[in-house]
Amino acid sequence: MSFNYEDIVRRFNEHIFKKIPHYLEDLPEEYFKSIEYTLKAGGKRIRPLIIFFSGKMFSLSDEILFDLGMLLEILHTASLIHDDLPAIDNDDFRRGVPTCHKVFGEALAILAGDGLIFLSFEILSKLSIDLQAKERLVREFSELGGLRGMVRGEVKDVLMTGRSFLLEEIIKMYEDKTGALFGLAFEAAAICSREYDKAQKLKQIGKNFGIAFQIFDDIKDIVGDFEKIGKTPGKDIKQNKPTIVKVLGLSEAEKLANDYYSKALQTLSEFHNSHDLVEFLNSIKSLLIER
Ligand code: IPE
Ligand code: IPE
Ligand code: MG
Ligand code: MG
Ligand code: MG
Repeated sequence: MSFNYEDIVRRFNEHIFKKIPHYLEDLPEEYFKSIEYTLKAGGKRIRPLIIFFSGKMFSLSDEILFDLGMLLEILHTASLIHDDLPAIDNDDFRRGVPTCHKVFGEALAILAGDGLIFLSFEILSKLSIDLQAKERLVREFSELGGLRGMVRGEVKDVLMTGRSFLLEEIIKMYEDKTGALFGLAFEAAAICSREYDKAQKLKQIGKNFGIAFQIFDDIKDIVGDFEKIGKTPGKDIKQNKPTIVKVLGLSEAEKLANDYYSKALQTLSEFHNSHDLVEFLNSIKSLLIER
Protein backbone atom coordinates (compact mmCIF):
# COMPACT_ATOMS: atom_id res chain seq x y z
CA MET A 1 0.00 0.00 0.00
CA SER A 2 1.22 3.51 -0.70
CA PHE A 3 0.87 6.03 2.12
CA ASN A 4 0.68 9.80 2.19
CA TYR A 5 3.31 10.60 4.86
CA GLU A 6 2.15 14.19 5.39
CA ASP A 7 -1.32 12.95 6.06
CA ILE A 8 -0.05 10.53 8.74
CA VAL A 9 1.98 13.31 10.40
CA ARG A 10 -1.16 15.51 10.37
CA ARG A 11 -3.20 12.71 11.99
CA PHE A 12 -0.41 12.07 14.51
CA ASN A 13 -0.26 15.76 15.45
CA GLU A 14 -4.04 15.89 15.86
CA HIS A 15 -3.81 12.83 18.11
CA ILE A 16 -1.16 14.29 20.40
CA PHE A 17 -2.59 17.80 20.63
CA LYS A 18 -5.98 16.37 21.51
CA LYS A 19 -4.57 14.10 24.21
CA ILE A 20 -1.74 16.06 25.79
CA PRO A 21 -3.71 19.01 27.32
CA HIS A 22 -5.58 16.50 29.45
CA TYR A 23 -2.27 15.57 31.12
CA LEU A 24 -1.27 19.19 31.64
CA GLU A 25 -4.17 20.33 33.80
CA ASP A 26 -3.46 22.35 36.95
CA LEU A 27 -0.05 23.54 35.82
CA PRO A 28 1.09 27.16 36.08
CA GLU A 29 0.35 28.81 32.72
CA GLU A 30 3.97 29.61 31.87
CA TYR A 31 5.18 26.09 32.64
CA PHE A 32 2.29 24.65 30.56
CA LYS A 33 3.45 26.82 27.65
CA SER A 34 7.10 25.80 28.08
CA ILE A 35 6.07 22.14 27.88
CA GLU A 36 3.94 22.59 24.75
CA TYR A 37 6.34 24.96 23.02
CA THR A 38 8.99 22.63 21.55
CA LEU A 39 6.43 19.89 20.87
CA LYS A 40 4.33 22.33 18.85
CA ALA A 41 7.33 23.83 17.04
CA GLY A 42 7.20 20.87 14.67
CA GLY A 43 9.97 18.43 14.00
CA LYS A 44 10.06 15.76 11.35
CA ARG A 45 8.20 13.18 13.52
CA ILE A 46 10.44 10.44 12.12
CA ARG A 47 10.29 8.23 15.22
CA PRO A 48 6.45 8.18 15.40
CA LEU A 49 6.34 7.41 11.65
CA ILE A 50 8.75 4.50 12.16
CA ILE A 51 6.48 3.17 14.90
CA PHE A 52 3.44 3.64 12.66
CA PHE A 53 4.95 1.63 9.81
CA SER A 54 6.54 -1.04 12.01
CA GLY A 55 3.03 -1.46 13.47
CA LYS A 56 1.90 -2.55 10.02
CA MET A 57 4.17 -5.59 10.44
CA PHE A 58 2.23 -6.63 13.53
CA SER A 59 -1.34 -5.53 12.70
CA LEU A 60 -1.68 -3.08 15.60
CA SER A 61 -4.37 -0.40 15.69
CA ASP A 62 -3.56 3.18 14.68
CA GLU A 63 -4.70 4.33 18.14
CA ILE A 64 -2.03 2.24 19.91
CA LEU A 65 0.60 3.18 17.33
CA PHE A 66 -0.10 6.89 17.73
CA ASP A 67 0.04 6.53 21.53
CA LEU A 68 3.41 4.79 21.25
CA GLY A 69 4.60 7.43 18.80
CA MET A 70 3.40 10.17 21.15
CA LEU A 71 5.30 8.91 24.16
CA LEU A 72 8.50 8.42 22.20
CA GLU A 73 8.21 11.83 20.54
CA ILE A 74 7.71 13.35 24.00
CA LEU A 75 10.83 11.64 25.33
CA HIS A 76 12.79 12.70 22.22
CA THR A 77 11.58 16.30 22.61
CA ALA A 78 12.69 16.32 26.26
CA SER A 79 16.13 15.12 25.16
CA LEU A 80 16.34 18.00 22.67
CA ILE A 81 15.32 20.65 25.23
CA HIS A 82 18.03 19.41 27.60
CA ASP A 83 20.59 18.95 24.77
CA ASP A 84 20.14 22.63 23.81
CA LEU A 85 20.75 24.00 27.33
CA PRO A 86 23.72 26.35 27.86
CA ALA A 87 25.48 23.69 29.96
CA ILE A 88 25.27 21.12 27.16
CA ASP A 89 25.21 22.34 23.51
CA ASN A 90 24.15 25.93 24.19
CA ASP A 91 21.89 26.19 21.14
CA ASP A 92 19.73 29.21 20.35
CA PHE A 93 17.45 27.60 17.77
CA ARG A 94 15.54 24.35 17.50
CA ARG A 95 12.91 23.32 14.96
CA GLY A 96 13.25 26.74 13.33
CA VAL A 97 12.38 28.76 16.46
CA PRO A 98 14.32 30.00 19.52
CA THR A 99 15.12 27.18 21.96
CA CYS A 100 12.96 26.52 25.02
CA HIS A 101 15.44 28.12 27.45
CA LYS A 102 15.76 31.22 25.23
CA VAL A 103 12.02 31.82 25.52
CA PHE A 104 11.18 30.58 29.03
CA GLY A 105 14.55 30.73 30.82
CA GLU A 106 16.84 27.92 31.89
CA ALA A 107 14.94 26.87 34.99
CA LEU A 108 11.65 26.26 33.19
CA ALA A 109 13.45 24.57 30.26
CA ILE A 110 15.13 22.09 32.64
CA LEU A 111 11.78 21.46 34.30
CA ALA A 112 9.96 21.20 30.95
CA GLY A 113 12.37 18.40 29.98
CA ASP A 114 11.88 16.70 33.35
CA GLY A 115 8.10 16.99 33.08
CA LEU A 116 8.08 15.56 29.55
CA ILE A 117 10.19 12.54 30.57
CA PHE A 118 7.73 11.70 33.34
CA LEU A 119 4.79 12.37 31.01
CA SER A 120 6.12 9.82 28.52
CA PHE A 121 6.18 7.20 31.29
CA GLU A 122 2.70 8.19 32.46
CA ILE A 123 1.36 7.61 28.94
CA LEU A 124 3.26 4.33 28.78
CA SER A 125 1.68 3.16 32.03
CA LYS A 126 -1.81 3.83 30.63
CA LEU A 127 -1.41 2.03 27.29
CA SER A 128 -4.15 -0.52 26.62
CA ILE A 129 -1.89 -3.46 25.90
CA ASP A 130 -1.12 -6.87 27.36
CA LEU A 131 0.39 -6.46 30.86
CA GLN A 132 3.43 -8.62 30.20
CA ALA A 133 4.18 -6.62 27.06
CA LYS A 134 3.79 -3.39 29.02
CA GLU A 135 6.27 -4.56 31.63
CA ARG A 136 8.75 -5.34 28.88
CA LEU A 137 8.13 -1.97 27.24
CA VAL A 138 8.69 -0.11 30.51
CA ARG A 139 12.00 -1.92 30.91
CA GLU A 140 13.12 -1.13 27.37
CA PHE A 141 12.09 2.53 27.62
CA SER A 142 13.86 2.95 30.95
CA GLU A 143 17.06 1.32 29.74
CA LEU A 144 17.27 2.79 26.24
CA GLY A 145 16.04 6.23 27.26
CA GLY A 146 18.35 6.40 30.25
CA LEU A 147 21.54 4.92 31.60
CA ARG A 148 21.90 2.21 28.96
CA GLY A 149 21.06 4.53 26.08
CA MET A 150 20.26 8.15 25.35
CA VAL A 151 21.32 9.73 28.67
CA ARG A 152 24.55 7.70 28.74
CA GLY A 153 25.25 8.82 25.17
CA GLU A 154 24.71 12.48 26.04
CA VAL A 155 27.06 12.03 29.00
CA LYS A 156 29.75 10.52 26.75
CA ASP A 157 29.24 13.37 24.24
CA VAL A 158 29.82 15.94 27.00
CA LEU A 159 32.88 14.13 28.37
CA MET A 160 34.42 13.58 24.92
CA THR A 161 34.02 17.23 23.91
CA GLY A 162 37.40 18.81 23.25
CA ARG A 163 39.24 15.49 23.67
CA SER A 164 40.65 12.98 21.20
CA PHE A 165 38.95 9.61 20.77
CA LEU A 166 38.88 6.49 18.59
CA LEU A 167 36.34 5.82 15.85
CA GLU A 168 34.93 2.84 17.78
CA GLU A 169 34.36 5.00 20.86
CA ILE A 170 32.42 7.56 18.93
CA ILE A 171 30.29 4.95 17.17
CA LYS A 172 29.37 3.52 20.59
CA MET A 173 28.49 7.04 21.75
CA TYR A 174 26.21 7.53 18.68
CA GLU A 175 24.61 4.15 19.25
CA ASP A 176 23.69 5.41 22.73
CA LYS A 177 22.73 9.03 22.23
CA THR A 178 20.77 8.59 19.00
CA GLY A 179 20.61 4.86 18.21
CA ALA A 180 18.86 3.95 21.46
CA LEU A 181 15.67 5.96 20.79
CA PHE A 182 15.58 4.65 17.22
CA GLY A 183 16.01 1.16 18.67
CA LEU A 184 12.88 1.82 20.73
CA ALA A 185 11.00 3.11 17.68
CA PHE A 186 11.84 -0.03 15.71
CA GLU A 187 11.00 -2.51 18.46
CA ALA A 188 8.00 -0.97 20.28
CA ALA A 189 5.29 -2.44 18.04
CA ALA A 190 6.88 -5.90 18.14
CA ILE A 191 6.93 -5.78 21.95
CA CYS A 192 3.24 -4.81 22.06
CA SER A 193 2.56 -7.95 20.00
CA ARG A 194 4.75 -10.04 22.35
CA GLU A 195 7.10 -10.87 19.47
CA TYR A 196 10.17 -10.52 21.67
CA ASP A 197 12.71 -12.26 19.42
CA LYS A 198 11.74 -10.07 16.52
CA ALA A 199 11.87 -7.04 18.84
CA GLN A 200 15.51 -7.77 19.72
CA LYS A 201 16.47 -7.91 16.05
CA LEU A 202 14.47 -4.81 15.18
CA LYS A 203 16.11 -2.94 18.06
CA GLN A 204 19.56 -3.65 16.61
CA ILE A 205 18.44 -2.51 13.17
CA GLY A 206 17.11 0.69 14.76
CA LYS A 207 20.42 1.32 16.51
CA ASN A 208 22.32 0.99 13.23
CA PHE A 209 19.80 3.25 11.54
CA GLY A 210 20.32 5.76 14.38
CA ILE A 211 24.10 5.77 13.89
CA ALA A 212 23.57 6.64 10.21
CA PHE A 213 21.02 9.29 11.21
CA GLN A 214 23.47 10.94 13.61
CA ILE A 215 26.28 11.03 11.01
CA PHE A 216 23.92 12.68 8.51
CA ASP A 217 22.98 15.20 11.24
CA ASP A 218 26.69 15.96 11.80
CA ILE A 219 27.22 16.46 8.07
CA LYS A 220 24.27 18.85 7.92
CA ASP A 221 25.76 20.81 10.80
CA ILE A 222 28.69 21.57 8.51
CA VAL A 223 27.13 21.96 5.10
CA GLY A 224 23.47 22.67 5.89
CA ASP A 225 21.70 26.00 6.12
CA PHE A 226 19.41 27.34 8.83
CA GLU A 227 16.26 27.32 6.68
CA LYS A 228 16.55 23.58 6.12
CA ILE A 229 17.88 22.31 9.45
CA GLY A 230 16.05 24.74 11.76
CA LYS A 231 19.09 25.04 14.05
CA THR A 232 22.30 27.09 13.93
CA PRO A 233 24.76 25.40 11.55
CA GLY A 234 28.52 25.22 12.09
CA LYS A 235 28.33 24.71 15.84
CA ASP A 236 29.98 21.30 16.15
CA ILE A 237 33.38 22.51 14.90
CA LYS A 238 33.16 25.76 16.85
CA GLN A 239 32.45 23.87 20.08
CA ASN A 240 34.96 21.12 19.29
CA LYS A 241 32.21 18.48 19.51
CA PRO A 242 33.13 14.80 19.16
CA THR A 243 31.80 13.85 15.71
CA ILE A 244 32.62 11.17 13.17
CA VAL A 245 33.21 13.92 10.62
CA LYS A 246 35.96 15.24 12.86
CA VAL A 247 37.69 11.84 12.74
CA LEU A 248 37.04 10.78 9.16
CA GLY A 249 36.37 13.96 7.20
CA LEU A 250 33.17 14.69 5.27
CA SER A 251 33.27 12.22 2.42
CA GLU A 252 34.42 9.17 4.45
CA ALA A 253 31.83 10.00 7.09
CA GLU A 254 29.13 10.13 4.43
CA LYS A 255 30.26 6.74 3.10
CA LEU A 256 30.06 5.26 6.59
CA ALA A 257 26.56 6.72 7.10
CA ASN A 258 25.43 5.22 3.79
CA ASP A 259 26.87 1.83 4.83
CA TYR A 260 24.97 1.86 8.13
CA TYR A 261 21.81 3.01 6.36
CA SER A 262 21.95 0.30 3.69
CA LYS A 263 22.81 -2.38 6.22
CA ALA A 264 19.83 -1.43 8.38
CA LEU A 265 17.42 -1.40 5.43
CA GLN A 266 18.79 -4.64 4.01
CA THR A 267 18.31 -6.52 7.31
CA LEU A 268 14.88 -4.97 7.75
CA SER A 269 13.72 -6.01 4.29
CA GLU A 270 14.23 -9.66 5.33
CA PHE A 271 11.37 -9.28 7.82
CA HIS A 272 7.91 -10.43 6.79
CA ASN A 273 5.62 -7.49 5.93
CA SER A 274 8.34 -4.86 6.35
CA HIS A 275 7.70 -3.37 2.93
CA ASP A 276 5.88 -0.20 4.12
CA LEU A 277 8.59 0.61 6.67
CA VAL A 278 11.39 -0.02 4.16
CA GLU A 279 9.63 2.19 1.60
CA PHE A 280 9.19 4.94 4.19
CA LEU A 281 12.86 4.83 5.25
CA ASN A 282 13.99 4.90 1.63
CA SER A 283 11.78 7.90 0.98
CA ILE A 284 13.21 9.98 3.85
CA LYS A 285 16.82 9.44 2.84
CA SER A 286 16.67 12.59 0.71
CA LEU A 287 15.38 14.51 3.77
CA LEU A 288 18.30 13.34 5.88
CA ILE A 289 20.92 14.38 3.38
CA GLU A 290 19.12 17.56 2.30
CA ARG A 291 21.28 20.59 2.81
C1 IPE B 1 17.60 15.63 16.21
O1 IPE B 1 16.65 14.68 15.84
C2 IPE B 1 18.56 15.04 17.18
C3 IPE B 1 19.38 13.98 16.62
C4 IPE B 1 19.30 12.77 17.04
C5 IPE B 1 20.35 14.28 15.60
P1 IPE B 1 15.66 14.97 14.63
O2 IPE B 1 16.44 15.38 13.42
O3 IPE B 1 14.73 13.82 14.45
O4 IPE B 1 14.88 16.26 15.16
P2 IPE B 1 13.37 16.72 14.92
O5 IPE B 1 12.51 15.89 15.80
O6 IPE B 1 13.05 16.55 13.45
O7 IPE B 1 13.36 18.16 15.35
C1 IPE C 1 21.84 14.34 19.39
O1 IPE C 1 22.94 15.05 19.11
C2 IPE C 1 20.96 14.91 20.45
C3 IPE C 1 20.31 14.00 21.38
C4 IPE C 1 20.49 12.74 21.50
C5 IPE C 1 19.39 14.63 22.30
P1 IPE C 1 23.10 16.57 18.61
O2 IPE C 1 23.48 17.44 19.73
O3 IPE C 1 23.98 16.54 17.42
O4 IPE C 1 21.64 16.97 18.10
P2 IPE C 1 21.27 18.40 17.53
O5 IPE C 1 22.19 18.71 16.37
O6 IPE C 1 21.43 19.37 18.65
O7 IPE C 1 19.85 18.23 17.07
MG1 MG D 1 24.35 17.29 21.60
MG1 MG E 1 22.80 19.45 20.09
MG1 MG F 1 23.80 17.78 15.65
